[in-house]
Amino acid sequence: MSSAKANIGVVGLAVMGSNLARNLASREGNSVAVYNRTGSKTDELVAEHPEAGFVPSKTVAEFAASLEQPRTAIIMVQAGAATNAVIDQLVAEFEPGDIIVDGGNALFTDTIRREAAVRETGIHFVGCGISGGEEGALNGPSLMPGGTVESYETLGPILRSIAALADDGEPCVTHIGTDGAGHFVKMVHNGIEYADMQLIGEAYDLIRRGTGKTPAEIAEIFAAWNTTELESYLIEITAEVLRQVDAETGSPLVDVILDAAGAKGTGAWTVQSALNLGVPSTGIAEATFARSLSSQLGQRAQAKGLPGPEAAAVDDADAFIEDVRLALYASKIIAYSQGFDIIVAGAEEHGWNIDKGEVAKIWRAGCIIRARFLERITEAYAEQPDLVALVLAPFFTDAVAGGQDAWRRVVQYAAGSGIPAPAFSSTLAYYDGLRADRLPAALVQGQRDFFGAHTYRRVDREGSFHTEWSGDR
Ligand code: ATR
Repeated sequence: MSSAKANIGVVGLAVMGSNLARNLASREGNSVAVYNRTGSKTDELVAEHPEAGFVPSKTVAEFAASLEQPRTAIIMVQAGAATNAVIDQLVAEFEPGDIIVDGGNALFTDTIRREAAVRETGIHFVGCGISGGEEGALNGPSLMPGGTVESYETLGPILRSIAALADDGEPCVTHIGTDGAGHFVKMVHNGIEYADMQLIGEAYDLIRRGTGKTPAEIAEIFAAWNTTELESYLIEITAEVLRQVDAETGSPLVDVILDAAGAKGTGAWTVQSALNLGVPSTGIAEATFARSLSSQLGQRAQAKGLPGPEAAAVDDADAFIEDVRLALYASKIIAYSQGFDIIVAGAEEHGWNIDKGEVAKIWRAGCIIRARFLERITEAYAEQPDLVALVLAPFFTDAVAGGQDAWRRVVQYAAGSGIPAPAFSSTLAYYDGLRADRLPAALVQGQRDFFGAHTYRRVDREGSFHTEWSGDR
């Protein structure tokens, strides 16, 4: 064991962990202790990256001893049982004032529970969302730490040194809030990512079936869109994916890929949280269900012959493509607005003081939903910190209003042509629901009172009311 002490440690040296350790080591002033359950992985990392000057350990006790006090260690192991096991091992070796960071994709309720348990020992526990995949971990992720303000005093400068930098040079990290706030916001980030990806998928499908353009041609459309307000990493990679040709068959790769979308669960967690909080985040929910539907291969095979219209070619391809672009932008605004509603409701439920503008700011670089668009969200919250919904900020209200005719034409075309557009249409229905003067919820309340005496409120006076419904017809 080296006698040099490290100022930060990483436990778990699989892809994400080793990349994060290398990122940390590349920053001036850091000396990085590394430990992995299987020692050969540690040896490999140290041998492959002599420039990093890692301080390796073979046991957790050695690892703890190799860290300067108060110690700071980032856990990068699988969420769930592995994370629990490593926390227990570190708690046994660490002392009050030390900081344990979980950089995995933990469910925020696990983080809340773990933080409370570890706090009893006097050790700080920080759940930190890390977005940006393996490339982000190595070169600069977007970081969403929770935990105490006190722990962030030590951790903040280290995280700032490794985070992605936005165009204005600001590191993409902020203290999100206490205990599970960081993992909660990371979860919602992933939910929004699901919605954004689904909307882009629907736009592609509509253009392809409505105009007959090839994937390579549609790639150029997305590349052009990437110079508009839609500019984002996801639009950029969509063009790349659509351009790709399968080496084996010579077909567009997108036609060779099985159309069954996978999911690791963070979209479902977001939707479950939204349901628990009573937040109508229809865009994220439909995106998550669309992945489920795509994976029901048995049902889909049987359902293939069900009747429905054939997609009719549109009359004016260029006008239709512009409509789809505007529809995508309007739907995206709604999906993001709904995502921020989940953050607001979660913050209220758990007592977190989350700065929504800061959240949008740290998503501008490093993460999958990075986009210039996020600056507009930061500006909206800066102008109106008590904004009740993002879509009500003047900039977004105008953007949706400007695109809504196109959006309605696209949803009409999709429905009339039998092309599924669940995210486009559910966000439009949400928008119309939100702006409606009256909703049929009044009738639902009447029904509830009829069969269950659940009572209702009236429009003309306070109180709760029950009608003695007559059984006579
Ligand atoms: P990634 O997504 O970055 O590839 P992961 O699958 O999330 O990685 O996590 C794998 C890491 O968790 C590995 O470092 C693994 O250690 P081993 O190399 O020894 O398998 C670590 N890990 C999994 N279960 C663990 C446990 N119970 N205790 C300690 N580390 C564990």
